[in-house]
Amino acid sequence: MNTTSPFDRLNFRKALGCFGTGVTVVTTKASDSRLVGVTANSFSSVSLEPAIVLWSLQKTSPNLSAYDDCGRFVINVLSLSQIEYSKRFASPVPDKFNGVDYALGIHDLPVLNGCAATFECRTIQRLDVGDHILYLGEVEAYQHQNQTALLYVQGRYAQSASAEPHPA
Ligand SMILES: Cc1cc2nc3c(=O)[nH]c(=O)nc-3n(C[C@H](O)[C@H](O)[C@H](O)COP(=O)(O)O)c2cc1C
Repeated sequence: MNTTSPFDRLNFRKALGCFGTGVTVVTTKASDSRLVGVTANSFSSVSLEPAIVLWSLQKTSPNLSAYDDCGRFVINVLSLSQIEYSKRFASPVPDKFNGVDYALGIHDLPVLNGCAATFECRTIQRLDVGDHILYLGEVEAYQHQNQTALLYVQGRYAQSASAEPHPA
């Protein structure tokens, strides 16, 4: 057991990392039409009716204004075979979309092909919370397909052990 002060930043991150998640790339379009995308595992479902989801972006992101100005974003839930997209969109490469397979969605935002699921959203609330901006979005369109999702837990990529249900 490790019980140090909650203000030990690194240790706090380690504790948070025990909660396993999927991996998404959240895309949008900047006001100069440049395509923007960021790897994010802060995605969460919020409401079924109306359909609302959330994610958060660190305030230091150079792409913050793109998400604010556009007022829309797409959550792309990565499949196991898309681990390179996760790495690419988590690094400061100049053209993140180079070689990426995508189509334009209902509001001309990039929707990645081959994802486990995609959610095209309109921002309904933007909350300034600590060192992140929290975006709540109403889902305007979505799709999903039979793809195994990429997972992330304890600072590492992972995959579900098997398709077998847990014995419990
Ligand atoms: C698995 C994973 C999950 C991440 N989740 C988030 C997140 O939810 N929010 C965030 O702001 N950054 C997150 N990051 C870090 C960003 O992807 C990274 O800082 C990236 O460089 C941001 O792109 P930008 O610098 O173009 O804004 C995550 C990185 C990884 C590898």
